[in-house]
Amino acid sequence: MTDTTRFPADPSRRRVLASGGAALALAGLTGGLGTRPARAAAGPVLARTLPSTGESLPAVGLGSWITFNVGDDPVLRAECAAVMAAFLDAGGAVIDSSPMYGSAQAVIGAGLDRLGRSGEAFSADKVWTGDTDEGRSQIAQSRDLWRVPRFDLVQVHNLVGWEAHLETLAALKAEGAVRHVGITTSHGRRHDLFEEIMVAHELDFVQLTYNPVDREAERRLLPLARERGIAVLVNRPFRRGALTQRLEGEPLPDWAGALGAETWAQLVLKFILSHPAATIPIPATTRPGHASENVRAAAGPLPDADLRGRIARHIQDL
Ligand SMILES: NC(=O)c1ccc[n+]([C@@H]2O[C@H](COP(=O)([O-])OP(=O)(O)OC[C@H]3O[C@@H](n4cnc5c(N)ncnc54)[C@H](OP(=O)(O)O)[C@@H]3O)[C@@H](O)[C@H]2O)c1
Repeated sequence: MTDTTRFPADPSRRRVLASGGAALALAGLTGGLGTRPARAAAGPVLARTLPSTGESLPAVGLGSWITFNVGDDPVLRAECAAVMAAFLDAGGAVIDSSPMYGSAQAVIGAGLDRLGRSGEAFSADKVWTGDTDEGRSQIAQSRDLWRVPRFDLVQVHNLVGWEAHLETLAALKAEGAVRHVGITTSHGRRHDLFEEIMVAHELDFVQLTYNPVDREAERRLLPLARERGIAVLVNRPFRRGALTQRLEGEPLPDWAGALGAETWAQLVLKFILSHPAATIPIPATTRPGHASENVRAAAGPLPDADLRGRIARHIQDL
């Protein structure tokens, strides 16, 4: 799943692989076929190939929980748009949201529209309702808020109503209204049921918590994702900011330089990215500088197994 392909700095050369393995040159087109003619980054960033479709995506995404729930405030909305602009400029694409995140979906939709860059984002949203009859209408409403013709990915949020929602999502995918489907969990919750669903259902993505401190997913879910050919979005890479705050002020170890990691955030993301099944971490931020710093973690080398152990031990010992 982890490959060494790099997104070219020249956006006109960006390519997306369509299902069936055929390479389609999509740069410059518009509308939900994975078209993301991103602006040039300072250098190429690591690309990930999605096992189920062969599509290629930049290896660091952007979350939106809390950070983008800013309501109608024009100043805060402009700040969120600036975060998305920095993220896309650095070469990012995957943006994750949910109807659970207050105004975040509307803020993303309006922000991307204002930037004129909706076509550059890989729209990853969720269905989140216990009333399973409402699944379709909720997804349609979310799509209106995002202002996209169809979602690149819809995930069942925290497994709420998962059986019925997965049926709905399979039907929407067959209709071409959703491109990929998935399920989410976080904080190590409900891993037994999560595993059963991963075995019994055709999923393009799962989303779970993984970072140098929270490593429960290494036991079963990450190996299973690899075995089943399921891409993994990694949530809470910074433990909601508690990890980056704890590391702030601590000197970066000398050996971080060999990986091209200039900050703790980049070292943590490199640890996540170097797990062979962890496809795309999705850190959230309120700061444009952090958005580009996070995407740039996918440039330069990744740690090998020895160095991964060293990163985890070093962070745990601090
Ligand atoms: N069950 C689910 O489906 C589920 C559960 C949890 C999360 N998620 C998704 O995963 C996303 C990420 O998780 P999260 O938002 O809980 O937490 P997170 O990404 O682990 O942490 C976010 C915090 O990290 C800080 N941060 C970001 N980049 C930084 C950098 N370069 N340097 C220092 N600090 C940095 C941010 O502060 P600044 O604003 O100062 O940068 C923010 O407070 C969510 O937004 C959501 O989209 C999904």
